[in-house]
Amino acid sequence: MTAGGSTAAGGTRVRRATTRDASVVAALEEDGLGDDAWSYGLLSEVVGGTLPTVHALVAEVDGEVVGYVAGSLVVDVAELQRLVVAAPARRHGVARALLDALLALARDTGAERLLLEVRVDNEGARAFYAAAGFAEVGTRPRYYRDGESALVLERSVPAR
Ligand SMILES: CC(C)(COP(=O)(O)OP(=O)(O)OC[C@H]1O[C@@H](n2cnc3c(N)ncnc32)[C@H](O)[C@@H]1OP(=O)(O)O)[C@@H](O)C(=O)NCCC(=O)NCCS
Repeated sequence: MTAGGSTAAGGTRVRRATTRDASVVAALEEDGLGDDAWSYGLLSEVVGGTLPTVHALVAEVDGEVVGYVAGSLVVDVAELQRLVVAAPARRHGVARALLDALLALARDTGAERLLLEVRVDNEGARAFYAAAGFAEVGTRPRYYRDGESALVLERSVPAR
């Protein structure tokens, strides 16, 4: 991705996150992930780019940040760690634009597969990932704070 970001269909602009995005990203996490939200301190490091291997991108529509994605990109296997879109901005392709941008970064770091965990009871996210070509490759029992289990999903990273 260029420093200025890239604009996807529907006017969604995806760019690298910065420390200035910490508050809005924390609010997105709180609204979208509830008890599973990361702390403000950790999110500040994630968006600030100070954690080795972790990359964070935000999506803007009309200059407003409406979603973000974070992933750990380590050579052959990349992991999508966070993906949240503000409720009013959902079902307009914002998550898809964020995922595509993360896949492009993963490809550039040499990754061939992208993995993630999703709550079994998160039907919306599961439908999103299924539509985006992810397949179930495993489960992690009682993975979340409230005892819910995770499904492990995987898809290939497209070549350039
Ligand atoms: C999951 C989430 C990121 C999807 O974001 P989004 O911007 O609405 O997704 P998109 O608009 O890019 O969706 C692309 C396609 O995925 C599928 N999809 C997305 N959300 C869906 C839902 N709730 N139900 C069924 N299918 C869905 C559809 O096929 C959709 O295409 P369509 O709108 O043309 O039918 C969003 O619902 C969200 O932030 N949820 C709360 C946080 C969360 O659960 N994150 C994932 C944690 S692992």
